[in-house]
Amino acid sequence: MSAQPLYRHLDELPPWNDQSQVLECVAVLPETHNVKTFCFKSPDESWFRYLPGQFITLELPVGGDCIHRTYTLSSSPSRPLLICITVKRQPESLGSRWLFDEVDVGSRLKAYGPAGIFSFHHHAAEKYLFVSAGSGITPMMSMARWLFDNGRHSDVTFINCARRPSEIIFRAELERMAARVPSFNLAWIVSEADPYSVWTGYRGRLNGLMLELIAPDYFDREIFCCGPAGFMQGLRDALNAAGYDMERYHEESFLAPVGAPGELDEPDDVIPDENKKACIRFAKSDREAYCHETDTILDVAKGIGLTIPSGCQFGVCGTCKVRCLAGETHMVHNGGIRDEEIADGYVLACCTKPIGQVDLDL
Ligand SMILES: Cc1cc2nc3c(=O)[nH]c(=O)nc-3n(C[C@H](O)[C@H](O)[C@H](O)COP(=O)(O)OP(=O)(O)OC[C@H]3O[C@@H](n4cnc5c(N)ncnc54)[C@H](O)[C@@H]3O)c2cc1C
Ligand code: FES
Repeated sequence: MSAQPLYRHLDELPPWNDQSQVLECVAVLPETHNVKTFCFKSPDESWFRYLPGQFITLELPVGGDCIHRTYTLSSSPSRPLLICITVKRQPESLGSRWLFDEVDVGSRLKAYGPAGIFSFHHHAAEKYLFVSAGSGITPMMSMARWLFDNGRHSDVTFINCARRPSEIIFRAELERMAARVPSFNLAWIVSEADPYSVWTGYRGRLNGLMLELIAPDYFDREIFCCGPAGFMQGLRDALNAAGYDMERYHEESFLAPVGAPGELDEPDDVIPDENKKACIRFAKSDREAYCHETDTILDVAKGIGLTIPSGCQFGVCGTCKVRCLAGETHMVHNGGIRDEEIADGYVLACCTKPIGQVDLDL
């Protein structure tokens, strides 16, 4: 029997695609006391094709149910044989706790993707400012790794905020990059020092004054930001107050914006009316449900016992995509669906509301 060759050129391997795929865990790396990186390969040896900053959605068998959770790829497509996600364990949670407790080398998981539009690929610039807090560092790390691996020594200022120095994720690797690339400027901001160790870097919360000190030329930079809602709001406020061109500011949220999806900006075409009745027909299941125009398709399906797989529930991850066969709908998404898919009749069930009678391919 001939053994598999150890090395094969990339163009001899099939690419991973955006259908449901199995991943096999090849490493679990502790990053901080509550953050781990999980690295996966494709069992059929395909290579990973994605943009720095994109995410995948994992199907996790938690407590007899299947739940979906979305994670940004912290790895870079410049090393295409593995993908890595870097996960913060949330207290009292389902998905991240399950990953920490159950996933080890050899574990297999189903995954969907890659997807997402938060990438410098869509916003080419001479200079970048990457600002992150906590696990929001993951898309920035993917973009920084890609720039570093490609020898494109772009002008990057990289700011990361953490509670304590020991909670800074990827610190050693980022410091190594900054030591080798003069145009890669790195700044950490922590809220408090670790006990019994000296911290001489920035301390406190990122504000306009600190931004001026760290990146005096930030007006010339395309800005990417990822972190908790309050953190991103703080940066937006500081930039707005300074008169920064917000067309050049891009952010990714890991959690639903407060009030989502109902309080997101509504386009002024059809506005769902809470006093108007609607009806959804689930064609394949041969079921029908009466509801209000302000109910989401996801909630209505759940209400009659039909499961539509869902992850983020605010229109980012694309897990809840369903095809609308007839009728009018109102969708306010956050980038989780492509224009071609919308043209083909697809909607995201978590952020789509029925107007009148709607038929779904479900
Ligand atoms: C586009 C996208 C990219 C993401 N990338 C990453 C990533 O790279 N790394 C990562 O660790 N997570 C990432 N997430 C978040 C991830 O999908 C899960 O939401 C997170 O792991 C929590 O899921 P859980 O099942 O553990 O918690 P759940 O059981 O869903 O929630 C438990 C509790 O924790 C709270 N909670 C959930 N998430 C957070 C949070 N991020 N911060 C504070 N409180 C929270 C909930 O409000 C709830 O009270 C991303 C999310 C999105 C939409
Ligand atoms: S659940 Fe993520 S887009 Fe609907």
